[in-house]
Amino acid sequence: MRYALFMKIALTGVKPTGVLHIGNYFGAIKPALLLTEKYEARYFIADYHALNVMKNPAELKAAIRGIAAGWLAAGLDPEKVIFYRQSGVPETFELATILSAFASKGLLNRAHAYKAAVQRNIERGEDGDAGINMGLFTYPVLMAADILLFNADVVPVGRDQTQHVEMAQDIAGALNFNYKKDLLKIPEAVVREDVAVVPGLDGRKMSKSYGNTIPLFSGGAALRKLIMRIVTNSQGVEESKDPDSSQIFSLYKLFATEDEQAALAARYRAGGMGWGEAKEELFRVTDRELSPIRGRFDALMAEPERLDAILKDGSEKARRIASGTLSRLRKAIGID
Ligand code: ADP
Ligand code: TRP
Repeated sequence: MRYALFMKIALTGVKPTGVLHIGNYFGAIKPALLLTEKYEARYFIADYHALNVMKNPAELKAAIRGIAAGWLAAGLDPEKVIFYRQSGVPETFELATILSAFASKGLLNRAHAYKAAVQRNIERGEDGDAGINMGLFTYPVLMAADILLFNADVVPVGRDQTQHVEMAQDIAGALNFNYKKDLLKIPEAVVREDVAVVPGLDGRKMSKSYGNTIPLFSGGAALRKLIMRIVTNSQGVEESKDPDSSQIFSLYKLFATEDEQAALAARYRAGGMGWGEAKEELFRVTDRELSPIRGRFDALMAEPERLDAILKDGSEKARRIASGTLSRLRKAIGID
């Protein structure tokens, strides 16, 4: 693997907490893969972050493999991107310990995810910290370690994650200030502003928490059945329909060519096309894009040793970078 010297580093992590859906695909995977053209990319599976909520070993293992196979099936090239598991880079956890000494508790008290969990407890009349583990509380420190270990310039994330990247900046700043040296690179979040929110089957944002998803690897009859479940209004076949307010059309736009979009929009407006037919059209373009991805996914899942080998290889490359950062840091702090 060879990189141009001037290439900046993009790094992001994906939590293996469920099955990928087309919201993840258009909202996170595709934009991150596009960035690999311009950046030296380091993408990883944040398996220890998932442990905070995933306590069933078989489920966690399946989710790790499923997410890894999903990214590879969607086009991630492990020759071009360093693709690894957080757990495969134990330097991360040593750095997290170092960073803990520079992260104020007050900073972590202000983390949105922790505050929201406390708020939910209080609303239920329970103790604020009921059911909250330290993994959730120190989540931003571990995430800062993920980022700072690899000298990331940019961290592509969804809007909900920007606070975590700001915390990584704060913690790195506190450490650099103490040693009067730029030991850690200050990263920037890159938020995917232009990415549309993919609607789910019920019209709300597609999310695994709402149970309204189209899994990225569904296909054939199962995919068709899901699409037929999309909620519509009661307009009859003959009525003219507005493509811009139809979620069937919003989904169609993600998969169809510009010509197909224009042609179908005209048919919506003209009347004479019922929602059933609109859904059939959506199924056609969806299955067309997803079926090759599904094929690659199934092949990877059928060969878990190959998948594990790809991640192991990536983790070894990642460790070589990580150990450099860590040994510099250990010297600087007086623990070497
Ligand atoms: P979920 O909401 O299903 O739990 P995650 O929070 O795991 O999804 O999402 C991972 C990333 O996928 C998010 O950071 C976000 O950028 C993207 N994403 C998730 N759902 C959507 C959606 N409906 N539309 C666009 N992007 C999405
Ligand atoms: N917290 C991120 C999420 O929930 C996942 C993540 C873990 C991450 N470590 C990271 C993202 C480092 C970017 C950089 O989506």
